[in-house]
Amino acid sequence: MTEHEQLVEDLKQVVCSAAAAAKKFVGTGEKEAGDQAAVDAMRKSFEEAQMDAVVRVGEGEKDEAPMLYMGEKLGNGVGLKLDIAVDPVEGTSLMAAGKPNAIAVVAATDQGKFWDAGSAYYMKKIVVGAAARGAIDITKSTADNLKSIAQASEKKIEDLVVYVLDKPRHIELRKEIEACGARVDLHAEGDVIGSVLALMEASEVDALMGIGGAPEAVITAAAVLALGGDMQGQLAPQQEDERSALLAEGTDIDKVLLLSDLVQSDWAVFVAAGVTAGVLLDEPKESTNNEVLVDYLMIGPEAGQVENDLFEL
Ligand code: FBP
Repeated sequence: MTEHEQLVEDLKQVVCSAAAAAKKFVGTGEKEAGDQAAVDAMRKSFEEAQMDAVVRVGEGEKDEAPMLYMGEKLGNGVGLKLDIAVDPVEGTSLMAAGKPNAIAVVAATDQGKFWDAGSAYYMKKIVVGAAARGAIDITKSTADNLKSIAQASEKKIEDLVVYVLDKPRHIELRKEIEACGARVDLHAEGDVIGSVLALMEASEVDALMGIGGAPEAVITAAAVLALGGDMQGQLAPQQEDERSALLAEGTDIDKVLLLSDLVQSDWAVFVAAGVTAGVLLDEPKESTNNEVLVDYLMIGPEAGQVENDLFEL
């Protein structure tokens, strides 16, 4: 087995064990407990994983997060030196409410090569698939970007579908998209799933636009890199304390973050597993012989590599 083959096996175990643990909390209203169960399961699986890894994007600072905190070492210390970006449950509210599209997700690349989100919580993002690679510019207007995406994808602007999170901060963005004649695909939560849909040729979604989590942007970037899509981001602090923490760290808030800033390597791998049934992934199910079957989607580590299958736990 090559080191990359070993890595993907380990990451499948990590992410599928988290999805299965979180599944027990679906529809219970217990957002924190479900997240914690997924964190614990991920952490346990990482102990066995053959890697010398560090958490670059995790559950927060060490004193706030007992496990999977930024800077925490993962793996048995043997094998590939890696950066890990995790979201044990992406869409915790979806999980707690028993709604579609909650996933467990992990991404990896070479050590020191994922963008360090620091105190950044929110980021404005545009994500597109391979057809529109090179056609986006986050400093330009929504209309300019949609025109350019349509042209590159050889589609009419009216045929474009843009995934947007249903948040008050996106009222203007929705108006701008609709004014161009493009369609909005509105979702309460989950911009990692939205980005993956934008990357997938078979999906209706052509782009993700709007402000979502900065850590989620790093995880997303792994999938964008592996599928040859494109992505740009710009920090978008939503509260004064986030802005002042970024300024205190000396962060250039207005800097345009390119895909090559978010993942500074020529490879990355992204693995997601379904916690609740959704557009991309099913929920974990028990097999007749009491094993848990978890639906996962692996993107990378080779360019263009996609695998969607069931993992037996
Ligand atoms: P969580 O599971 O961490 O709550 O993330 C869900 C999510 O919808 C992300 O996909 C998105 O990036 C972020 O929340 C947006 O944050 P907010 O809900 O605060 O606007």
